[in-house]
Amino acid sequence: MNKSIENSLQSDLEKRRLNDSFRKLSCSKAEVDFCSNDYLGLSNSIELKEEIDRILVYQKEYSVGSTGSRLLSGNSIFTETTESYLAKIFKGEKALLFNSGYNANLGLLSSVPKRGDVVLYDELSHASIKDGIRLSMAKKIMFRHNDLQDLDLKLSRTNSGNRFIVVESIYSMDGDRCPLKELVEIAKKHEAHIILDEAHSTGVMGHKGAGMAIGMGLDANIFARIYTFGKAMGVHGACVVGSTTLINYLINFSRSFIYTTALPFHSVASIRASFDILGKNIKWQHDLDEKIKYFISYFNKLFSSSLERTKSESAIQSILISDNIRVKSIAKYINKCGYDVRPILSPTVKQGQERIRICLHRYNSKGEIEGMLNALKEGML
Ligand SMILES: Cc1ncc(COP(=O)(O)O)c(C=O)c1O
Repeated sequence: MNKSIENSLQSDLEKRRLNDSFRKLSCSKAEVDFCSNDYLGLSNSIELKEEIDRILVYQKEYSVGSTGSRLLSGNSIFTETTESYLAKIFKGEKALLFNSGYNANLGLLSSVPKRGDVVLYDELSHASIKDGIRLSMAKKIMFRHNDLQDLDLKLSRTNSGNRFIVVESIYSMDGDRCPLKELVEIAKKHEAHIILDEAHSTGVMGHKGAGMAIGMGLDANIFARIYTFGKAMGVHGACVVGSTTLINYLINFSRSFIYTTALPFHSVASIRASFDILGKNIKWQHDLDEKIKYFISYFNKLFSSSLERTKSESAIQSILISDNIRVKSIAKYINKCGYDVRPILSPTVKQGQERIRICLHRYNSKGEIEGMLNALKEGML
C-alpha cells in the first residue's frame, strides 16, 4: 500500500486510541450473557434448532446458496410463501425480505423519499436509518429525541412534497420507546407518513412477537414497518411490511434489495422456524418482562437515585457513567466477576452519555441479575 494512505489511516486510528475509543474485535466473553440481543434465548433453543432441521429436509430441492439476486436466480416459492407468512403475522398487505435490518433501512430510506420530499428523523436513530437517509435525495431534518413539540414545529415549517417521520419502537442505545400514539396524531395532522423500525420490539412485543404497532393496534396508521430477525428472533435477516404498491416499488427501486445475492434457503427456513417456535411459546415474552421488572426493582433498591438509568422498560438497560476511561474500567470489573456487559463509548454515543449497556434475557436468573448489579456497585467504588 502507498505510504501516504497508510499514514492517513494510521493517523485516524491514532486519534481513536488517544480518546480511548479504539474499536477492536474480541471473541472472549464473560460467562453470563448480559450483552447479546438474543432476548428470548431463541438463538440457543434446542426447539428452534430441531425445527430448522425439520424444515431443512426439504433443502434437497434447493441449492445451498441462493445463487443470485431475487430478481434473477435467487427467488423461490419457499421464499415467497415465507413472505406471505410474515405478512400475515405483521398484518400487512405484503412483506419483503432483506438480508439484514441494515439493508432494509438502507434500501427503504434511500429509495422512497425523493428529491422535493422531507425526512424527519429522531436524533437517536440507528446508523442504518441515518445512512439510508443520507443516500436519499430528500431534505433531511433531525428532531430531538422523542420530542413531539420539536417534531410538530419542524413539520409545520415544511409543507413541500411527501413528509416522512422515521422512528424506532425501542431505541437501541437508550432502550426507551417512541410515543407511537402521539406520533400517529401528529402524522395525521400534518399528512405525514410514519416509517417505524421495529428491530428491538420484533419478538418481544405484540401478539406472537408481532411488534409494538400491532401490540398497540396502530399498525394501519404506519406507512412502512421494518422488522429484524437477528435480535429476539435469534436468527438473521429482516423484512419491510407495507402496501402492495410499496413492496412493488422496493422490488423496482431499492438498490440494497436488487443488487445483492438473496438469503439462502437455510436463512429463510430459520426465519420461518423461529416464528413457529415463538408462536408455541408465547409465555417467553412474559418471562422476559418479569426479568426486566426484577432488574429495575433491584437496581432502584441498590442505587436509589445515585446512578442514572435511561428511561427504559425494555430488555435494553443503559447505566450512564460518563467518561470513556471510567466506563471501560467499570465494565472490565463486571466482566471479571463473570458477567458479559459492554461499555458504550463516545463517539458511538454523545460525549457525556457514555454508558454500560445491559441486555436482559429470559434466561438470566434473578441471582445473575443481582450478581451483575452488585458487581456494578463494587466497580463504581
Ligand atoms: C434500530 C435498529 N435498526 C436496524 C438494525 C440493523 O439490523 P441488522 O442487525 O439485522 O442489520 C439494528 C441493529 O443493531 C437496530 O438496532
